[in-house]
Amino acid sequence: MKLGSTELGRIFLAPLSGVADSPFRCICKRFGADTVYSEMVSSEGLSRENERTVEVLRFTDEEHPIGVQLFGRDPERMATSARQVEGLKPDLIDMNFACPARRIVSRGGGCALMREPETLSRIASAVVKATDLPVTAKIRIGWDDENINALEITSILEDAGVLAVAIHGRTWRQGFKGISSWEEVARVKRAAGIPVILSGDVTSGETAERALQKTGCDAVMVGRAVYGLPWIFKAIHAYLKGEEFTVPRFGEMRQVILDHVDMGIATLGEETAVMRFRKHLLWYTKGMPGVVALRPAVSRVATRQEVEMMLDRLSENLGSSEAIDGKR
Ligand SMILES: Cc1cc2nc3c(=O)[nH]c(=O)nc-3n(C[C@H](O)[C@H](O)[C@H](O)COP(=O)(O)O)c2cc1C
Repeated sequence: MKLGSTELGRIFLAPLSGVADSPFRCICKRFGADTVYSEMVSSEGLSRENERTVEVLRFTDEEHPIGVQLFGRDPERMATSARQVEGLKPDLIDMNFACPARRIVSRGGGCALMREPETLSRIASAVVKATDLPVTAKIRIGWDDENINALEITSILEDAGVLAVAIHGRTWRQGFKGISSWEEVARVKRAAGIPVILSGDVTSGETAERALQKTGCDAVMVGRAVYGLPWIFKAIHAYLKGEEFTVPRFGEMRQVILDHVDMGIATLGEETAVMRFRKHLLWYTKGMPGVVALRPAVSRVATRQEVEMMLDRLSENLGSSEAIDGKR
């Protein structure tokens, strides 16, 4: 799919706070993620130039096309944030009306705005007016089963000048549980005059193809299925082209893992980067022979050298067979 003059492709990495930071996005890009998003950035935090907010906004040339995602409920502040972010030259600005987290929803942000269509409309209009960049939004299908309103919200967003909408096919009440309703997303797609991106339960080439075909959506996002499996994008592209895909062998995975941690160290320093990397290491190594016994040590790694030592020990467990086929 295209927005303005930018080709965005159709297999996106979903925005994933606490997971899809710049190093991980670079790794996903290398494996064929078409478009990626920053972790969500608070417009309040931006106005205070909060250190963590500034760090979250960092991205590299390799990550284009990239969307920076903002959240907040004050139209003026959101507009100011959009102007600030424009200076970083992302390819689009996305507004988060999908977040279910209590600390955000209780303050009227994220998905809570789907219950306040007027405020949501004012935010969207203010952001669209504030920037020349394409503006998109991410929503859910509704608040709960009794309040499914993605169709109405999409029409409001379209009227405000939003150029595409991503829909997570779950309600606020579902959180991240249960099945994502592709039917509801399809219903919105049929009525919408702007591109629709589907989010929820895209976990493989087969599900990506089915989601695109069943809903007619312009693109799909891969969310939690990317944990430890950044090559899923290559697998999906291969599937869509009817080509074979082979899971990387241990040697290649080892290099991906070390590149990932090294990119983090380059920007955050070893201590913080390795600490944040622990969960990725647990995901990368899930299902490898002998990893269960190593898990406590994996979850405590503190230096790059310890990451390498873990990989060496796992490599020994593999013995002569380098392949870890069957690792999902
Ligand atoms: C850990 C985590 C962090 C997330 N962070 C964001 C975020 O910052 N912005 C956003 O719009 N959605 C966020 N999401 C929602 C995902 O983008 C996606 O819509 C959701 O996980 C459903 O897709 P899935 O079933 O493929 O995981 C997050 C989800 C998870 C699990």
